Amino acid sequence: MRRYRLRIPGPIDLEPEVLAYMSAPLIAHYGQEWVELYTETITLLKRVWQTHEADVFLMPGPGSVGMEAAIASISGDTHKLLVLTNGFFGDRWVTVARIYSSRVIVLESTWGRACDADAVEQTLKRDRDIKAVIMVHGETSTGVLNPLKEIGEVCDRYGAVLVVDMVATLGGTEIAFDAWHIGIGVSATQKCLECPPGLAPIAVSPRAWELIERSKGPGWYINLRTWQHFAREWGDWHPHPVTMPTGLTQALRFSLRNILDEGLPQRWARHTTIALLLRNALKNLGFELFVPDDREAMNTVTAAKGHARLPAAALIRALKEKYHILIGGGLEKLSGQIFRIGHMGPTATRDAIVPTLLAIEDVLRSVGVAVEPGQSLRALAPVMGPE
Ligand SMILES: Cc1ncc(COP(=O)(O)O)c(C=O)c1O
Repeated sequence: MRRYRLRIPGPIDLEPEVLAYMSAPLIAHYGQEWVELYTETITLLKRVWQTHEADVFLMPGPGSVGMEAAIASISGDTHKLLVLTNGFFGDRWVTVARIYSSRVIVLESTWGRACDADAVEQTLKRDRDIKAVIMVHGETSTGVLNPLKEIGEVCDRYGAVLVVDMVATLGGTEIAFDAWHIGIGVSATQKCLECPPGLAPIAVSPRAWELIERSKGPGWYINLRTWQHFAREWGDWHPHPVTMPTGLTQALRFSLRNILDEGLPQRWARHTTIALLLRNALKNLGFELFVPDDREAMNTVTAAKGHARLPAAALIRALKEKYHILIGGGLEKLSGQIFRIGHMGPTATRDAIVPTLLAIEDVLRSVGVAVEPGQSLRALAPVMGPE
């Protein structure tokens, strides 16, 4: 199978050292050495999440298993769940929430614009039966970054547990789990955590545990009470209920060490710089960005509409076939209308975006758009300096 450069919104191209763990000899998923490795990985994740209070688990499976676990664990008939959606992954929350609860309220906003913290506050003020607010931090389907800190403050004022999909932001975008009053955070290894897919890290705050205890939601594997039980009862030899992907856990520990060595503020800033450069470069080439406001844009994914002379699907196809660069397309109602570029971890660098931009210029020229070679790079020069 041909190898492509992965500039999709995850998974991403990985460092060879990370990939090497995937073919390393297997180790046991229990016993003292394993517990040391597992515990260090959890401790490093807590640092990336900026939490001292939360319990953190590593659940084998995709990010969606973590989403389902969060919902199953807090679902019950005595309270309502408020789900915010402004994209494909927000809609996934709605689908999952409706499977586990008959008392779901949905607050929908326009795709391409951020969720509104004031609207969340008005809804919580009106309906005191709402005990959890569920949202996506970085909505990869549109490139919108939702105002997590502000919504966290609202939830704190009204005593609601805030459940957040951080699949595309943890490790690339600022998150202060405790300070922002987050209740449950769900992520996945294949994006800014710079690993292959297969583990869903989950963080659970003391306030979220109270709701989980009261809810007595269904499920065994997907119920966080099971994970808490094994962490407590089997903590000294097998702190999780199931057999773990040990190579992937080793890879994650390696990546987390690197992430923290780089420094969290430096890392967030690097992602933000690259996102701004890419946004400016695409505008320079005549593309309309899907998220019009820089302040509402993710720093790990950028989405833009097709060009007047070049539909999004044709651009995606040309980049794949002629340049072996994979970028993403639109999902559901945005199918065929937008393209999406991921810039996460090692792909949030000038080395990664320059070839993509030069290839896009070539494709534009091939359909008769007058673009000077390197035109898009003018957006890069003043900010980046020598790398
Ligand atoms: C924001 C967001 N949430 C959830 C998911 C689902 O993750 P997974 O495919 O690992 O279940 C994705 C995957 O792309 C995502 O981007």
